[in-house]
Amino acid sequence: MSAAQLAGENDLRRAVDEVARFTSGRALGPDLYEVTLEAREVALRARPGEFAQLLVSPDPVPLLRRPFSFSRADPGAGTVSFYLRAFGEGTRRLIALTPGQEVRVLGPLGRGFTLSSPPGRSLLVSGGLGAAPFPLLADRLLSGGGEVVWLNGAATSSQLYPPEMLPQGISELVQVTEDGSQGRRGRVTDLLPALLGGVSRVYACGPNAMLAAVAAQTAAPGTGPRLEVSVEAPMGCGFGTCLGCAIPLRDPARPDASPTLGLCCRQGPVLDARLVDWPRLQGQPAHLE
Ligand SMILES: Cc1cc2nc3c(=O)[nH]c(=O)nc-3n(C[C@H](O)[C@H](O)[C@H](O)COP(=O)(O)OP(=O)(O)OC[C@H]3O[C@@H](n4cnc5c(N)ncnc54)[C@H](O)[C@@H]3O)c2cc1C
Ligand code: FES
Repeated sequence: MSAAQLAGENDLRRAVDEVARFTSGRALGPDLYEVTLEAREVALRARPGEFAQLLVSPDPVPLLRRPFSFSRADPGAGTVSFYLRAFGEGTRRLIALTPGQEVRVLGPLGRGFTLSSPPGRSLLVSGGLGAAPFPLLADRLLSGGGEVVWLNGAATSSQLYPPEMLPQGISELVQVTEDGSQGRRGRVTDLLPALLGGVSRVYACGPNAMLAAVAAQTAAPGTGPRLEVSVEAPMGCGFGTCLGCAIPLRDPARPDASPTLGLCCRQGPVLDARLVDWPRLQGQPAHLE
């Protein structure tokens, strides 16, 4: 079996292409925003770690939809929210939307985080924009009776996901900034080892270099908690046809075998960290930095 087969792939039959309406947006930091859309069908289906492809404009340019992780999904209200950094044409158009404007939302796409039942104690590790999928993940872990510790890091305080936006009930929030402007000074990997006690699963999202370091710290074979990572790759279609999102995978049981390629949009974006060929992945462009 190849590493891509070991990873499995998402069920595309769960995705719908829904005409959503922008309901609200708010600034959460310099160039950082939360955008909320009314998308009733997608909100019912979205799971933590999955993403949607947003068609940001009816104009021919930008042509391609843009991928964003679900940051929140409220099936009761029929809304989904995205935490994003505005820097290019697509994200600038998203933050310029006004209430009632239409956006096509294709999703849910990709494979999300595994939620065990009961969830036990989980450690969420985020770097910068990597916080995006964790409000929804924390919400679902907590509502399943789990205990959540969140190690939230960023370069500086204005890039930290705001603590007041976190779901109620998180046991412990540890904040860390590289310049020491909020929380502890340093990187998430400086604090991670001390937080692993009693943890059954670690979930990580952030720049690929951070994910590789987290994977190295939790790699004790057979003894450490299972680590799931949400990796990022350039995406065109989001559903397996353009082959633009190839990522290098490996079979941990056959370390000498040649790496194989998987598709981030079908086998990922969430993967068991043992299946990722970290040295090769780090050779690819990182987009969440
Ligand atoms: C599965 C997945 C989930 C994501 N979730 C989030 C999220 O929750 N929040 C968030 O802010 N971002 C997220 N991203 C990244 C997001 O899709 C990009 O920031 C967005 O597509 C940029 O669009 P743009 O039109 O604003 O920028 P563009 O105009 O497309 O890009 C501006 C510049 O940045 C480069 N660039 C930007 N993003 C990418 C990319 N993904 N691949 C290759 N080059 C890129 C472009 O080459 C260009 O030079 C996610 C990406 C993936 C694959
Ligand atoms: S984005 Fe097209 S195949 Fe993955």
